[in-house]
Amino acid sequence: MKYTLVTGGTGFIGSHTVIQLLAQERAVIILDNLSNSSRAVLPRISSLSKKEPLFVEGDIRDKALLESLFEQYEIESVVHFAGLKAVGESTEKPLMYYENNVWGTINLCQVMARFGCKSIVFSSSATVYGDPASVPIKEDFPTSTTNPYGASKLMVENILQDLQASDPKWKVILLRYFNPIGAHKSGQIGEDPADIPNNLLPYVTQVAVGKLAQLSVFGDDYPTHDGTGVRDYIHVEDLAAAHVCAVDKLTEFSGTKIFNLGTGTGYSVLDIVKTFEQVTGEKVPYSITPRRPGDIAECFADASLARTELGWHATRGLEEMLEDAWRWQSQNPNGYADSE
Ligand code: NAD
Ligand code: UFG
Repeated sequence: MKYTLVTGGTGFIGSHTVIQLLAQERAVIILDNLSNSSRAVLPRISSLSKKEPLFVEGDIRDKALLESLFEQYEIESVVHFAGLKAVGESTEKPLMYYENNVWGTINLCQVMARFGCKSIVFSSSATVYGDPASVPIKEDFPTSTTNPYGASKLMVENILQDLQASDPKWKVILLRYFNPIGAHKSGQIGEDPADIPNNLLPYVTQVAVGKLAQLSVFGDDYPTHDGTGVRDYIHVEDLAAAHVCAVDKLTEFSGTKIFNLGTGTGYSVLDIVKTFEQVTGEKVPYSITPRRPGDIAECFADASLARTELGWHATRGLEEMLEDAWRWQSQNPNGYADSE
């Protein structure tokens, strides 16, 4: 049996992707150190997919563990989600971010190369565009970063491209996600931040469910239609579907491919609050506070390359994203902790 190794497969995007890979009859091994996820997601993945992924609790920095996995199983491709992702924390603990995200990936690639597995899909981010000169953003826009998290993503992109250039057997797909939100339709899996959320949507849903008092809207003086920051929110299920297309694509080409994954439409913070209130009937009290350092005014994708080359496009609109995020939060007010 040939396996796809999914690092970080118990996390937010990984768990949704695993379900979709299993639905396509792919055999999946999840490797996750549970540093930002819960074991409680595993029975939910199994019950939703009616299939059992293999789960290994472990770290991508553990070379002996990786070697034993590649020895034991015939792994033909890797979908590499594992990484730390909090921008603020990365500025406080840069070495932790570089060690985990950059060194962890080097370690993974060394073992992959040793076992002749040279196909990888990597979770990158729109953060690699820095503050773009214009929107929508295309894949050939210049890259730059403003924090260690973003720098770690860009370093890994460069490392994987250099690796591919050194050995044409490598097939590398770099997926630059815009702003993933939403949850599985069942309300059984979703985003479960460990602390107070940094990102807008989990903050909004936690205010609505009564865990947090009110939302701070970080600035209303940006040059956008209502002064608040504009982003390209994409349903996590659409994102997961893109990974299935990417894994399929790995069999068809050699080289490096880079794709933006977004809807191509930008919404402001206040658009999100108003639409959330409309679709859920819940109130989201908020106040306007100063800008968050490092934030940009506007960021949305030109995702047409993914449509033509990957055969993928986002199909779910903002209302569905918010309804699904709310179903998850209202059914699991404390995330996976409720079932641990
Ligand atoms: P997540 O934190 O929910 O998932 C990441 C998973 O990786 C977690 O389950 C964590 O326990 C695991 N992990 C971390 N370090 C590990 C290590 N050294 N070894 C093994 N497992 C490890 O995050 P997510 O939102 O699902 O994001 C997945 C990937 O996508 C990350 O690489 C992230 O940087 C990237 N990304 C996320 C967003 C976003 O807004 N969610 C945007 C752009 C890119
Ligand atoms: N915002 C608020 N209040 C909050 C949280 C966010 O007003 O409590 C605003 C931000 O200022 C921004 C928008 O909501 O205008 C979205 O903020 P997020 O933190 O949800 O998302 P970002 O676009 O800042 O960053 C996210 C990820 C990054 C990733 C980037 C691009 O957190 O890791 O998308 O993919 F790099």
